[in-house]
Amino acid sequence: MTMVSPDFSAQVPVTMVAAVTRDGGLGRSGQLLYRISADMKHFKSLTMGHPLIMGRKTYESFPGGPLPGRLNIVLTRQDIALPEGAAVAHTPQEALDIAASYIAGRQQDVAGDEDATRGGICGSVMVIGGGEIYKMFMPLASRLELTEIDAPAPADTDTWFPEVDPARWSEEAGSILQADPRSGVSFRFISLRNRLLRDIH
Ligand SMILES: NC(=O)c1ccc[n+]([C@@H]2O[C@H](COP(=O)([O-])OP(=O)(O)OC[C@H]3O[C@@H](n4cnc5c(N)ncnc54)[C@H](OP(=O)(O)O)[C@@H]3O)[C@@H](O)[C@H]2O)c1
Repeated sequence: MTMVSPDFSAQVPVTMVAAVTRDGGLGRSGQLLYRISADMKHFKSLTMGHPLIMGRKTYESFPGGPLPGRLNIVLTRQDIALPEGAAVAHTPQEALDIAASYIAGRQQDVAGDEDATRGGICGSVMVIGGGEIYKMFMPLASRLELTEIDAPAPADTDTWFPEVDPARWSEEAGSILQADPRSGVSFRFISLRNRLLRDIH
């Protein structure tokens, strides 16, 4: 698959976080394919404190509004009003600019706080879906944090993750396969690095 270069650019590192079946399935009817409690906790720990970029449909899939403790930047072509904790962006560049300002502000807030700076607090923007948004940001992403679900996508899956080209992406770390007691599916967490992008982390 040839990747089209986007006409927008990031001043901050871009990490994409997704839970994907082994054939790339992401969602159906506006919802996740599987609700895995360990994955929800993993997602929370990866994203807490970071600015998040998401599509309007993904934002609307959250039952309780914006995810707390993170700036929720919502891409939409419409004029919509969002509650505190969320910001509208009408273009991918605007979303990245809002994220970069948020990161700069947070870094100023924690300057001098050694614990926070040692932990690399909120140094990158997290792109959290859905399918349209992953596709758009994939060429800019320097890292992928994937939950690999060891199951095929159900037949009614309607949203897919872009192809992960092994020539571009190398696996840097991976957990062992574990089973989710509720859904019965097995999954593992993997971190991949884009070997074609200069790492700005
Ligand atoms: N498995 C996972 O990790 C994961 C993660 C996230 C989401 N999901 C699933 O993915 C599905 C949603 O994904 P989706 O692809 O249907 O929708 P989406 O990517 O969440 O949102 C699409 C919307 O983003 C806006 N948008 C797209 N491109 C834009 C651009 N260039 N400029 C401005 N706005 C733009 C548009 O909003 P407007 O229509 O308002 O203009 C568009 O309708 C759900 O099933 C969800 O549960 C899965």
